[in-house]
Amino acid sequence: MNCFIEDLARKSREFASRHQKPDFYARFHVEVSRSKHLYFTNPIIILLREAVEERLLLCEKVGHGIYHSSRVAWDCAALLDIELTQIGNIGVHKHRILILGLAAGILHDIARCEPNHAEVGAREAAKILRLFPFSEEEIGFICRAIRNHEAFRRPVPSLNPIGQLISDCLYDADKFRWGADNFTYTIWRMVDHQNLSPRDLIERFHWGIDGIRKIAQTFRTPTGRQFGPEIIENGIAIGKDIYRYLLRHYGESCLA
Ligand SMILES: [Fe+2]
Ligand SMILES: [Fe+2]
Repeated sequence: MNCFIEDLARKSREFASRHQKPDFYARFHVEVSRSKHLYFTNPIIILLREAVEERLLLCEKVGHGIYHSSRVAWDCAALLDIELTQIGNIGVHKHRILILGLAAGILHDIARCEPNHAEVGAREAAKILRLFPFSEEEIGFICRAIRNHEAFRRPVPSLNPIGQLISDCLYDADKFRWGADNFTYTIWRMVDHQNLSPRDLIERFHWGIDGIRKIAQTFRTPTGRQFGPEIIENGIAIGKDIYRYLLRHYGESCLA
């Protein structure tokens, strides 16, 4: 990573620390903590993470490796927990559904570096999941969710309400990453990978923000629709701080 990117990445974390955390993470800290606990302690999830670790490390260079997939997994299981509580009467199956949500999050970008990564990733995930104690129906739920996780593409609906919920929760958890995570982590790996200059960043900033704003209208769960737009706005506020810093510190060299 060159020093201008390192400088911006460090500044972005500093800017992020000055903004209040989005309401979702304060309101649902119990569900997010429960989800993280399962991620680190459930034997199936531990083995699944180990099985795909090397593969995800390859995607780290474009900002979609372990850091990204772990956060998608945590928020996906937390959203499932919240939505299932609101539906009520789910009983012993809830724990199992959270495990499916974690697995979907871990695997959803397994083919991130390949074209048509959602479709290719769903097929690869199915092969991996058959090595684990998941039923064919459960594998179907996870793979459908992975296939449906791209924005601005019509999702294929599931006839099963649990399958539909896993798909919607995975989508929202992935799009939550367009908040602070995008500006504190992901964007700098992508900038580095694409060898972009400060001038490139300044020129593309407004176009990028417009694209992120469109994501805010696509959340699929009631919780995502309620709390997702604030997560996105939180990211955009950090992005604006970075833009002002860019103009102040790198603007002149771009105009030279
Ligand atoms: Fe993806
Ligand atoms: Fe993703």
